[in-house]
Amino acid sequence: MTGFGLAQYLSEGQKFINDALLEFLPKENSYPESIHAAMHYSVLAGGKRLRPILVIAAAEAVGGDRRTVLPFAVAAELIHTYTLIHDDLPALDNDDFRRGKQTNHKVFGEAIAILAGDALLTQAFILMTHTALMEDIPERQVLKATHDMAEALGSRGMIGGQVVDIESEGKPIDAESIEYIHIYKTGHLIRACIRSGAILSGASPSQLNSLSRYGAHIGLAFQIIDDILDITGDEDVLGKDVGSDQGKEKATFPALYGLEESKKKAEQLVEESINCLEQFDGRAEPLREIARFFVQRTF
Ligand code: IPE
Ligand code: IPE
Ligand code: MG
Ligand code: MG
Ligand code: MG
Repeated sequence: MTGFGLAQYLSEGQKFINDALLEFLPKENSYPESIHAAMHYSVLAGGKRLRPILVIAAAEAVGGDRRTVLPFAVAAELIHTYTLIHDDLPALDNDDFRRGKQTNHKVFGEAIAILAGDALLTQAFILMTHTALMEDIPERQVLKATHDMAEALGSRGMIGGQVVDIESEGKPIDAESIEYIHIYKTGHLIRACIRSGAILSGASPSQLNSLSRYGAHIGLAFQIIDDILDITGDEDVLGKDVGSDQGKEKATFPALYGLEESKKKAEQLVEESINCLEQFDGRAEPLREIARFFVQRTF
């Protein structure tokens, strides 16, 4: 045992990120108020803040500093929230609850929800390219991390995964497509968060390679557990609709492999992810514990 406490690490990380989100979002009452209110509503509704915490934890694992990578950490959460708002829209998953509250389109209407997602994504790029906020980081590294993040989000990244997710509803499920969906819709953003924290902190090619493999494994594990929680989770604890996937005949791991086998696959992925961190010292302990949390979580 190293004495590292994940609960405290996560709650300190959440506080650090929540303060910064307030600082880096356009003010709620600034004109046009409706869009800024909608952006604040979903971003500040709660959420585990795991993606920004991964940016920080990857930075710290290679000797970096959380303040230095803060604009990227905030951007990661804005991007994630944009994907959630759009994912919940009637044209996609048509869900009513998110982060313990009504979904964005339920409160603000579809037009503003679509635009709030767009605005959050754009605000994220404003932050990631705001080199004046990251004076200690060589601009080449900022550019590489931003490019990496964009690749993870586009039609050959998260969007691609969402497209195949939607197009697979109600169809027979096969192992290859479901892996594609999960790696792309969820895994790529998670891996990009880890990579950006590392790139901005001057990771060596070998460190970056190991962290990328770690990120790919935990990213897939995260979505497998999300599928499982859609069946076994408690709506009040999860803060979002339960049973949503079955209703839409989504391509999920439990639908193909059953609950037990899916859980085993996620556990294996987490073990493999931790093995990828062999070259790192105690500073990677948060990453190891976050990986374990990814399969143990109930929310
Ligand atoms: C939910 O992500 C969407 C998926 C990619 C599975 P989280 O479970 O991290 O959601 P929040 O941020 O805590 O609300
Ligand atoms: C979400 O997958 C993936 C993205 C938001 C890109 P899900 O549709 O399974 O996420 P939840 O269950 O609604 O949070
Ligand atoms: Mg979805
Ligand atoms: Mg959904
Ligand atoms: Mg889900």
